[in-house]
Amino acid sequence: MPEITSTPDALEAIRKVRQVRQYEPGTVSETDLNTILEIARWSGSSRNTQPWRFIVVEDKDVLAKLSELRPNITWVAEGAMAIALVFPGENEVHEAYDEGRVSERIMIAAELLGIGAGTAWFAENENVAKEILGIPQEMTLHSVMVLGPYVTSKDPRPTGPKPGRKSLDELVSYGTWGQKR
Ligand SMILES: Cc1cc2nc3c(=O)[nH]c(=O)nc-3n(C[C@H](O)[C@H](O)[C@H](O)COP(=O)(O)O)c2cc1C
Repeated sequence: MPEITSTPDALEAIRKVRQVRQYEPGTVSETDLNTILEIARWSGSSRNTQPWRFIVVEDKDVLAKLSELRPNITWVAEGAMAIALVFPGENEVHEAYDEGRVSERIMIAAELLGIGAGTAWFAENENVAKEILGIPQEMTLHSVMVLGPYVTSKDPRPTGPKPGRKSLDELVSYGTWGQKR
C-alpha cells in the first residue's frame, strides 16, 4: 500500500495508477470492497443520473467463465473478485463517459488501498457476459473491474499495447491548437 502522508504523496500515488493483469491468490476484505464501492458511488455523472449499477462477482467459476470471453481478458480468472459495471443502455455517449469516470475512481481507490485493479472489456461478447450475470439484454455491460492482491502491474501479454505515456509536449497546446510555450 502506498504510504501517503502529504499531498505530493497522494498525487504521486494517483499518477502511478496502472492496469493490473497479474494477480496473486488472496482476497479483498469486505471493508476495502465497501470503501471502493463508496468511492465509486460518489463519482460524478451526466445530470447526476448515477446510471451505474454494480454487481460484485466473487464466484471463481463465474470469473473463469467471464475470462474465457476474449483472449485479452484471460487474467480475469486470477482476480479475487470483479465489479461488473452495468448501465441502463439509454444514452450511449453519456453512459460511456460516466463509465470511464467510475472506472478510474475504482482504480484509484484500489491503488490507494494497495489492491490491484484492471478493466476487462467484453466487446463483441457483451451479450454472453450479460447472460452469465443475469443482466437484462437491453442493459449495457461493457466491462468488469477486476480487483485483488497482485504481483505486478507489468503487462505480461507479448502483443499488449506499448507501455508508458506520451510526453506533455506532445499532448498540450496553449491558447490555440498547436501553440507551444
Ligand atoms: C475501453 C478500454 C478497454 C480496455 N480493454 C482491455 C482489455 O480487454 N484487456 C486488457 O488487458 N486491458 C484493457 N484495457 C486497459 C488498457 O489496455 C490500459 O488502460 C492501457 O494499456 C494502459 O495501461 P497501464 O495503465 O498499465 O499503463 C482497456 C482500457 C480501456 C480504456
